[in-house]
Amino acid sequence: MPDSTPDLKRLGVLGGGTMGSGIAQTALLSGIDVTLVDVDAGQLQRAQSTIQSGVDRLVSRERISAEQGSAAIAALTTFTDLESLAGSEGVIEAVSENIELKQSIFERLETVCADAAFIASNTSSLSIQEIAQRMSDPSRVIGLHYFNPAQVLPLVEVVVPLTASDEAVDAAWAFVEATGKTPVRVKDTPAFIVNRLLVPFCLSALRLWESGVATAEDIDRACQLGLGHSMGPLATADLVGLDVLLDVAESMQREIGDPNLSPPTILRRLVSAGRLGRKTGRGIFEHAG
Ligand SMILES: NC(=O)c1ccc[n+]([C@@H]2O[C@H](COP(=O)([O-])OP(=O)(O)OC[C@H]3O[C@@H](n4cnc5c(N)ncnc54)[C@H](O)[C@@H]3O)[C@@H](O)[C@H]2O)c1
Repeated sequence: MPDSTPDLKRLGVLGGGTMGSGIAQTALLSGIDVTLVDVDAGQLQRAQSTIQSGVDRLVSRERISAEQGSAAIAALTTFTDLESLAGSEGVIEAVSENIELKQSIFERLETVCADAAFIASNTSSLSIQEIAQRMSDPSRVIGLHYFNPAQVLPLVEVVVPLTASDEAVDAAWAFVEATGKTPVRVKDTPAFIVNRLLVPFCLSALRLWESGVATAEDIDRACQLGLGHSMGPLATADLVGLDVLLDVAESMQREIGDPNLSPPTILRRLVSAGRLGRKTGRGIFEHAG
């Protein structure tokens, strides 16, 4: 848990899926009250039990006390209507990756969250400026791009569009630091920093494997032992999901036009064969269980 007490006391999180629940857990463990909103009540129940197990694990490993764990759980409230976010001092949106959906949500957040210092999107691939397009004043809108699992990985990319005010960026930056994460600043550009580097890296590794230069195991071993990476690019591709990698590569290629982003044939073939990686038990590698 971070040492300092955050200035922001009340965070709104919209979307209680993989990312929203992880972001909520991070804030709760920093002593922040979290209002979590999802249209799907079942998803809110799943998010609550995911957060509860995450907190229980920290208590059982003695990383936090039982009292801290109980206080974190007590500071979470869940709702299915967006209006419940009124009064939030900062908001993070983590709903499904759909520009129409995000634009309509941000239009509503502008009035519902009139007092929020920042209204952030956790989008991985959409333009922050475009997400804020229907708002009359987009100056509070920025990107806060967390990594999966958000409750574990320390990095947050702070994505700054041309329309953002310094006040909104400073408030979001201070919030990220107060929750024990490390922010890096990046312009509102396709794929930001990490994915902009990771996607062509994974595609190059796939091309190398496709051309028979080395086995998949040796390509990954070489990157782990020669570069000090904790996971090789092909195992990473299987973890991300080969269908997701293909979609992201295609959309980045449309926006950036870099030939290194052209998906290799082997990637298309694996996806059409239903070999999507860990989630289907088989991708580039076989995955047990
Ligand atoms: N999964 C990742 O690895 C990852 C990493 C970084 C960023 N992201 C981004 O985070 C966002 C969420 O991704 P995820 O993986 O958590 O998705 P997810 O599918 O797990 O969760 C999305 C949630 O949004 C909810 N939702 C849909 N419409 C809504 C609405 N109108 N109001 C409230 N809730 C609504 C859904 O019910 C669902 O629970 C996306 O923008 C994605 O690009 C994902």
